[in-house]
Amino acid sequence: MTVSKTLIDDTVERSALTLGMVGGGHGSFFGPVHRAAMRLSGRWRVAAGAFSSDRDRSIASGRALGVAPDRIYGSGEELADREAARPDRIDAAVVVTPNSSHFEACRALLRRRIPTICDKPMTADLVEANALVDAVASARTPFAVTYTYAGYPMVRQARELVRSGALGPIRLVHVEYLQEWLAEPVEKQGNNQAAWRLDPKRAGLSGALGDIGTHAFQLVEYVTGMEVTEVAGELHRIVEGRQLDDNGFVRMRLANGANGLLWASQVASGVDNALRVRVFGQKGNLDWRQEEPNTLSLAISGEPVATLVRAKPYLSVPSRAAAWLPAGAPDGYLEALAAIYSRIADAVAAGPGYDASREPGFPTIRDGWRGMAFVDAAVRSSRQSGEWIRVPAWGRSDLA
Ligand SMILES: NC(=O)c1ccc[n+]([C@@H]2O[C@H](COP(=O)([O-])OP(=O)(O)OC[C@H]3O[C@@H](n4cnc5c(N)ncnc54)[C@H](O)[C@@H]3O)[C@@H](O)[C@H]2O)c1
Repeated sequence: MTVSKTLIDDTVERSALTLGMVGGGHGSFFGPVHRAAMRLSGRWRVAAGAFSSDRDRSIASGRALGVAPDRIYGSGEELADREAARPDRIDAAVVVTPNSSHFEACRALLRRRIPTICDKPMTADLVEANALVDAVASARTPFAVTYTYAGYPMVRQARELVRSGALGPIRLVHVEYLQEWLAEPVEKQGNNQAAWRLDPKRAGLSGALGDIGTHAFQLVEYVTGMEVTEVAGELHRIVEGRQLDDNGFVRMRLANGANGLLWASQVASGVDNALRVRVFGQKGNLDWRQEEPNTLSLAISGEPVATLVRAKPYLSVPSRAAAWLPAGAPDGYLEALAAIYSRIADAVAAGPGYDASREPGFPTIRDGWRGMAFVDAAVRSSRQSGEWIRVPAWGRSDLA
């Protein structure tokens, strides 16, 4: 892989790809973040959309975004069918709706062989996730899951460090993703994003564990390069009256026998978006915090603790390739998602030459499915008083 600073090299000629959006209309949280990351990547243009399940709202949002009136739709299914029939059909589509509507929209897009980008958690439950794996396998087209944190340069460096053996054999992993925004019952006070996240019909089988625990889990598997094989979980509903967990503790066993702990909480008062992963090998440990994303701490036993800095020449090629600005000019959340959008653009631009079995540089159906297998096992474990439950392995060599 070559190091190319595609976000800021705007004089380089590249294919302009068109994208359809499902969700992400006026007032939504993450839709505009996707669009900002797409713009930053310089590779995408929103050309169509079903921006809301309400047609009038979808039309209003589409107009505001400058989408042609005949390409604004009332549902993901309609978007897939009508776009597939056009000679200038969209190159790809992104699904950024509440979790329970991901599956139908993704399946409709894949049936039409439209490369699909799905937000996390990929589906409402593991049954839907299994069906989506089959749909991706039949479509033979790129499928991405936007686990934003995999796009950070220093997360990529962490992965390369583990891969290189710098830490020695991995023994212990500690990951936590803490937020405070659900510490009060805001779902009853008009906060729409909170309301659907705590409603099993719209969020799926878990609350905090599905919403942010899946990010933490993806980070563990991404950085260590290993699967979690078993979990023992205890999920809590700290704020009274909730149907889904707002806090969860999960113990984990990794494929090489390493032990891990995952804590996901949306009631951790006093913190904002505190995602942190620590990996301990026989020789030393690494420590990355999302709120200080431009550095990575590396502590090898008997040596001074090193603070590695984003975009420095001593970093690995994958890490430098995801860093857009020179060291000292920080980049972060939007740039991480843009890095993922940039790699998805490469895969989509490859067209029929796309090989689904090769690691493409963005989270795929595998990450999406693993996230749902994790949530499913942890929820079952919690219901069974914290019993150890096996997390099924990913068995598809035909898909990355
Ligand atoms: N990758 C990340 O870091 C990250 C961060 C935040 C949210 N998310 C994910 O993004 C998704 C959306 O979250 P949000 O916070 O933006 O939600 P939101 O409630 O703010 O926005 C959802 C949008 O989808 C629209 N919508 C709802 N049902 C629809 C349907 N059937 N068809 C078309 N449009 C529909 C709504 O009108 C709204 O515009 C969730 O799956 C969430 O987990 C991911």
